[in-house]
Amino acid sequence: MRLGVLVSGRGSNLEAILDAIADGRLAGARAVLVISNRAGVRALDVATSRQVPTAVLERAAYPTRAARDRAIGAALTRAGVEVAVLAGYDELLRQAYFEAYRGRTINIHPSLLPAHGGRGMVGLAVHDSVLAAGDLETGVTIHEVTPELDSGPMIAQRRVPVVPGDTAERLAERVLAEEHRLLVETVAGIAAQG
Ligand code: GRF
Repeated sequence: MRLGVLVSGRGSNLEAILDAIADGRLAGARAVLVISNRAGVRALDVATSRQVPTAVLERAAYPTRAARDRAIGAALTRAGVEVAVLAGYDELLRQAYFEAYRGRTINIHPSLLPAHGGRGMVGLAVHDSVLAAGDLETGVTIHEVTPELDSGPMIAQRRVPVVPGDTAERLAERVLAEEHRLLVETVAGIAAQG
């Protein structure tokens, strides 16, 4: 299965995928392209150090958002990507993306969607929102990506308890560890389905 990964920053979920491909847990998948919407981010170094081709498609290089999103979709299509993983990709993909790329796109989100999803729910804001709500558990959601933010059909969810004394940072760390596991398991499951 030919994987594309879209990133914007740290790239730890990308790293988890590439580690699993390298050590055989994700033997059925190959990462053929990493696309970032930002130059100079760590995720690009992660890809380059593993010899995975990269492309940077910044908004400023295109006349409109739609043109940029179409270019992302077209790059995935040219690379023969079958499954695109949004692994910390921080922008909404417009309709033009879905017109240019007909494969499957999945996203990982650090909460139990639909709770703590949608506009502004990125980074520590997600975990601050969980703590402010007094939730006793949070978790990870992997879902299909559709043109509406964080609302495509769910593929997998994993729970993470909130414990007394949690800060957003501590919660983020425990949720992220679970993200890495669930993402690898889910991509392996999709690869196994063929
Ligand atoms: C993760 O928490 C992911 O769920 C969210 O953005 C974060 C990206 O982290 N969409 P990384 O870049 O994979 O380290």
